[in-house]
Amino acid sequence: MEIIIQPDSFESSYLAARIIVRLVRAKPQAVLGFATGQSPLQLYQFLIKMHKNEGLDFSQVTAFNLDEYVGLDPSHPASYHSYMRDNLFRQINIRKDRVNIPDGLASDIPASCHTYEDRIHASGGIDIQILGIGTDGHIGFNEPSSSLASRTRIKTLTAQTRRDNAALFSGEAAVPHHVITMGLGTIMDCRMCLLLAFGKKKALAIAQAVEGPVTAMVPASILQMHPHAICMIDEEAASGLQRAFYYRWVYDNKPDWQKY
Ligand code: GLP
Repeated sequence: MEIIIQPDSFESSYLAARIIVRLVRAKPQAVLGFATGQSPLQLYQFLIKMHKNEGLDFSQVTAFNLDEYVGLDPSHPASYHSYMRDNLFRQINIRKDRVNIPDGLASDIPASCHTYEDRIHASGGIDIQILGIGTDGHIGFNEPSSSLASRTRIKTLTAQTRRDNAALFSGEAAVPHHVITMGLGTIMDCRMCLLLAFGKKKALAIAQAVEGPVTAMVPASILQMHPHAICMIDEEAASGLQRAFYYRWVYDNKPDWQKY
C-alpha cells in the first residue's frame, strides 16, 4: 500500500482529484467507484471545479457507488442517492443512465445485488474506487467480521457505525440497521483504490488498517493485499502510524516519473 501523508485534507483531496482527472482525460469511458461521507466531499468539489472551469467531461464515465441504506427512498435526504446527486452528479455532466447505486428498496435484495455485480463486470470493471474508512475500520459498509472475499450483499450495521452516521438522520434510532454494500472481494477487483481519511478520529482505524495484521476484524486491512491501493491521509489521521517518517520520505523522494 502506498501511504501519502499531506498537511491537511485539502492537499490530500487535491492530489486524489489529480489522479482521477488524469484517468478521465486519458480514458473518457473510465469507470469510477464513488463513496459517500465527509471524507470525499472536497475531492468532489475539485472534480466539479475541473468540470466547470476546464471542461472535464464526464459524459462517457460510468459510476458505481459503494453502498446504500436498505429501506430508504432515493429522495430521503440521508440516502446515498441524495448525497451523490447533491454533492456531485447534478453538478457535472455524468449521464443518469451511467450512474449505478445499490437499490435500497429492492424487493429481492439478493437478486438486485447479483445484478449490481453483473453490471460492474459488464462495464469492464472499476478503474478507480474511492473509499473512506469507518472508525471501526469498515470500508463501504463492510463491518468487522465481513468475509474478505465478500461480494455485493446485505449487511447489518454495528452500533458504532449507526452512532457515527446518526447526524444525517433525526437521531440514532432513525438510522437503518441494514445496508447493501459492495463486498471486500468486489472492492479488491477494482484496478486502483484511493482511501481518504482525515482527522484524529480516524487515526486508530488507519493505524490498524495500514500497519496491523490483515484481518476481517479491520476490513480495510484487506487493502494491504491490493496491488494498487493508495492511502491518502492528513497529519491527524496519520498520528497513530509507527512508520510515518518512512512514508513521508518515500513520497518526498519519488522519482519524477512516478509522481502524481
Ligand atoms: C459510511 C460509509 C462509508 C464511509 C464512512 C466514513 O459508513 N458507508 O463508505 O467511508 O461512512 O464516513 P466519513 O467520511 O463521513 O467519516
